[in-house]
Amino acid sequence: MARKISFINYKGGVGKTSLIVNTAAALAKLGKKVLLFDFDTQSNASIWLMKLERWNKVNVDGTGAIYSIFEPGKAQVKDLIIKDVVEGKSGEKLLPGLDLVPTSFNLVDLESEYTGDPKRPPYLQFYEQVATIESNYDFILFDCPPNILRASQCGVFTSNEIYVPSNPDALSLIGFTLLVEKLHKFHQLSASFRKAAMGVPAQVQGVIFNSIKAGVDIEVPKMRMQLRLNQFRTAKRAAAAAKIFNTQIRDAMIVRRAVALGLPVALVSVEGADVGPGADNVINDYRKLASEIIQQNPAA
Ligand SMILES: Nc1ncnc2c1ncn2[C@@H]1O[C@H](COP(=O)(O)OP(=O)(O)OP(=O)(O)O)[C@@H](O)[C@H]1O
Ligand SMILES: [Mg+2]
Repeated sequence: MARKISFINYKGGVGKTSLIVNTAAALAKLGKKVLLFDFDTQSNASIWLMKLERWNKVNVDGTGAIYSIFEPGKAQVKDLIIKDVVEGKSGEKLLPGLDLVPTSFNLVDLESEYTGDPKRPPYLQFYEQVATIESNYDFILFDCPPNILRASQCGVFTSNEIYVPSNPDALSLIGFTLLVEKLHKFHQLSASFRKAAMGVPAQVQGVIFNSIKAGVDIEVPKMRMQLRLNQFRTAKRAAAAAKIFNTQIRDAMIVRRAVALGLPVALVSVEGADVGPGADNVINDYRKLASEIIQQNPAA
């Protein structure tokens, strides 16, 4: 069965989407079968991996986007999967093994206009749909917005593991603390829908530091994060094996450029674009992070 992982932090802009897209690409390059769900109505991951023109066709009426599974009788997750999503200029497949279920802006309706059967909350419907396809993948990843409203709940309820992208600053630490608190509340709220076969609710397995600038000492924020993580582990609000990942992702221009080019960083040079200084280094960071995630044992 696939390992199912949500990337989430209550702090916005810490690099959740950049981390998940580039780590998903690195996992696929290591030969893993990866499916990425975009659960953020901003659609950043979808626009990035599909490029704007292709994504616009999905956004026009929401056909093919994740929200369509929550409209009764409309769509099945298996019909929304875009196989080998990353394409080159002439439509050639650049990254076999990385699939995407995109979102469009209509996902916001899940938070406001949606009036489904309260006995079958969206996260339960979503869990059941993912169960039909998960045996096809090694990793299923969920890019969540910075909250635990209904869209994020789908990812969190379905996940076995939660990773927290963070910057080395006080606001990320606050975001992490809030996340753990809200996660606990959501697990209590959803407990009656969790059957034994689903396993235990996902806990935080790790914090991943992102956008680390050269020459900046992050020992103090790292120590504060470690102390908070230790407190949560002691209180059983984080997994016993939860850790700050050894791999941290450096700040590099190519990460920002890759979005505009519609490619994960590992493929930017394939398209012959100017990658700026440090590109190989940050590509290596994502590769190391992917290897560290492969080695992380969520059962420990
Ligand atoms: N390692 C990095 N080096 C340089 N820039 C980065 C890096 N990681 C992320 N960024 C930039 O930081 C900004 C925020 O990143 P991103 O959109 O991934 O954050 P997010 O946490 O997903 O945001 P949101 O909360 O809005 O979903 C983007 O402009 C992105 O290009
Ligand atoms: Mg994002």
